[in-house]
This record gives sequence, C-alpha cells and structure tokens, in this order.
Amino acid sequence: MTPSAPRTPAAGESAEPVAFPLARSCPFSPPEAYAAMRGNGGLTRAAVPGGKEAWLVTGFDDVRTALSHPASSSDARHPAFPALGDGEQAVAAELRPFIRMDPPEHTRVRRMLVGEFTVRRVQAMRPAVEEICREQADHLLSLPAPADLVGEYANRVSTTVICRLLGVPMEDLEFFRRVTSVSGARSSTAAEVGAALSDLFGLIDRLIDEKAQDPGDDLISRLVNGPLARGEITRTSLLSQIGITLNAGHETSRNMIPLAALDLLRHPDQLELLREDPSLWAAAVDELLRHLSVADVITLRVATEDIPLEGATIPAGDGYIALLAAADHDPRAFPEPERLDITRTRRNHVAFGYGAHQCVGQNLGRLEIEVALRVLFEKAPGLRPAVPLEDLPLRSSSAIFGLEEVPVSW
Ligand code: HEM
Repeated sequence: MTPSAPRTPAAGESAEPVAFPLARSCPFSPPEAYAAMRGNGGLTRAAVPGGKEAWLVTGFDDVRTALSHPASSSDARHPAFPALGDGEQAVAAELRPFIRMDPPEHTRVRRMLVGEFTVRRVQAMRPAVEEICREQADHLLSLPAPADLVGEYANRVSTTVICRLLGVPMEDLEFFRRVTSVSGARSSTAAEVGAALSDLFGLIDRLIDEKAQDPGDDLISRLVNGPLARGEITRTSLLSQIGITLNAGHETSRNMIPLAALDLLRHPDQLELLREDPSLWAAAVDELLRHLSVADVITLRVATEDIPLEGATIPAGDGYIALLAAADHDPRAFPEPERLDITRTRRNHVAFGYGAHQCVGQNLGRLEIEVALRVLFEKAPGLRPAVPLEDLPLRSSSAIFGLEEVPVSW
C-alpha cells in the first residue's frame, strides 16, 4: 500500500490508521485493541514504521483465508511489503530467506528442509533434547536464587538444541548466542543487524567448508553434501536458508519457554492436571502456543490480487499483516479465549501460521517446549517468579514477543 489512502473501501475501515505494532499490556494476552478490530468488519488500516500503511487482519477465518490465498505474497522485494523493523525489508530483499519467498521458488527450497523436521526425525531427537534440558535445568538450579529463567535456562536450551540440529560446534555456541540476540531485536538498527548477520554468515560459511570435507549427522552436512553438491541451490542461498532456520528456531523457543512456564504457574489448577496426568502435556503445549501466540506479527504479506474475506476485501497491491494472536483469541473459534484450558478439544490454532509458510519446525518446537517445561517443573517443583508479574520487562521490540528476563526462585 502506498502512503496514500487505499484504493478500495473496506468494511469497518477506521478514519485514522492505527499506529502499529501495538504493545501488549499483559504478557499473556494480545494487545487489547485487537478485540475491537475483530468486531470492526475484520480489516483495520495501520501505519507501520517507515511511513507505509497496511491492513491488519484479525478474525480466525479471515486470517486463515488471507494466509492461504494464492495471491498472498511473502516477497519482501515488493514496495508495499509492510516491514516492521528498521532494516527488515532491505535485509530480507537482499538475503532472500525462504520465509520471504513465494512459490514455486519457496516450494523448491522448503522441500530441501522439510525432511529434517518430520515427526520421526524429531522424535529421534527426544533423548538429546531431554539431556540438554536436564543439563540446563541443573545449571539454573546451581545458581543462587533468584536467577533469570530466560538467560540461564530458555536461551541456553534453545541455542543448544538448534546448534545440535544444525551441527554448529559447541565451541561456537557463545558466539552464536551473541549475534542472534542482536539480529533478533527489532530495536537494532539496519547497520547492527547487517553486522550481526555478517558475523553469523561467516560462521555458517566456515561450517559449509568443514562439513563438505568432514560430514556429520546434522542438517548442514546433509544440505552441503546433498542439494549444494548437486547444484540445486547456490552457496549464497544456502547460507540464507541455514541462517533463517537458525534464527527462527532459536528466537521462538527462547521466548515461548519462560512465558509458558509463567502461564502455567498463574494457572495452578492446570499445572496440577499435568502433574496428575503427564499424558496431557501434548495438549497443554498446543494450548499454551494458542494462548501466547508469540509470533503474532511475523506474517507480513502483500496481496498480488484482491483477496476477499468475510466482510471486506484486501485490495490488490496492498500490504497486510495477518495477526496470529488476534485469530487465536477470536471467541468464535475458541470460546472464552483468555482462559488457559489444557483440556480444550479444539486445537487447530494458528500460532505456527497457516498456508504455504506454516512453521516448518513445528514438530521440534512442540517437543522443545514440552521437554523444557516438564524437566523444569520436575526438577524445581517450588518454582515461582521472584518479582510481581506486572514488573517483568516485555520484549516488545522483537519480531517474536517475549520477556527480557524472568527472575525466579525455587
Ligand atoms: C517454538 C515455537 C515456534 C513458533 C511459535 C513458530 C512460529 C512460526 C510461524 C508463525 C511461521 C510462519 C511465518 C509466516 O507465515 O510468514 C514460522 C515459519 C518458520 N519457522 Fe517457526 N515457529 C516455532 C519454532 C520453530 C523451530 C523450532 C524452527 C526450526 C528449527 C522454526 C523454523 C521456521 C522456519 C524455517 C519457518 C519458515 C517456513 C516457510 O516460510 O516456509 N520454527 N514459524
């Protein structure tokens, strides 16, 4: 969408665009304004950073339609692409990670990675994930209380798991943790993101050479000795695809694990259900994913043709954002959406997105959250926040919602 008014009037269009992104006032609920937007015909005009405008899609059915429509484009090179971060559009347009590609190019690249995340392959990682969570829980509990659940547990679990999956050596872990914290923060400038990504790419570049010589049982080795060796992908593109998988896989779990732990602690009846019947963990993880919907604003799109929704149409050429937390808190899809209810029968939330770009790592994401929480509550049955929940610093500047730190005692 150009900075001028949109070409096609839409039902419920407000006179003034809403300044976006909106902050959460409570870490466990979407921004309050989403509820009013949902009742507003489904489409709301928003002013996004950088002077552009885009549509916000908020209803559950509309979000799914808008994400699965063939005219939905994720290509960041489009002038109307509604980037939310300073350097986000330029970096994505240059690096072309597959999260910002369209079919058929997207389909071709995604196919190279899908096999790494099948249920079978991810289940085979369970013992390694268990071991990592146990080690990191022991580390946390060896510290004097209160200690930070984000820095001393969740971040360490998520970086170690993703580095193990990709084959990043343990001696590069600290380096990896430092660069991803800069590249994942929306407050970082384009120059800072550029420098962090170039450091990260330097590491991946070195690993590509090493794994061509001496392959291991890991994702980078398989891509280097498969698609790269067969000439199906260029080295530059491979670097970007490994980079996005590292980043997407780390940032989401890092933010989900502490939020989910606190969400359970503030619902002791739900935690009790899990203690009585551990077979409920799988359902609990999906309910926590729905309830928290941390990747709310990741789904940035452009309509290449008109996209008709229930009560309005996204006009061709306009940018839009399909808000996942708004959809997952739509009472028409999930009655009493603010209630965390691990026995909910409906589980088809959109916390992992919907359509062609639906999270490729969702099986691993689910496993990681489940094991990280289960081990934590098992080893620290008296776990509790050491400060009032209202005082926790929110990580609103990041593309994935989370908390900066969470001091806990046990
Ligand atoms: C743990 C919770 C996670 C959440 C809530 C989450 C959420 C999402 C969402 C909403 C998308 C769709 C983006 C879009 O439509 O534009 C996505 C895509 C993606 N995710 Fe995840 N994710 C998680 C874990 C992971 C993990 C563990 C990995 C990898 C190890 C991963 C790798 C990716 C990649 C590579 C994509 C791009 C897929 C594509 O464009 O085809 N994610 N994720």
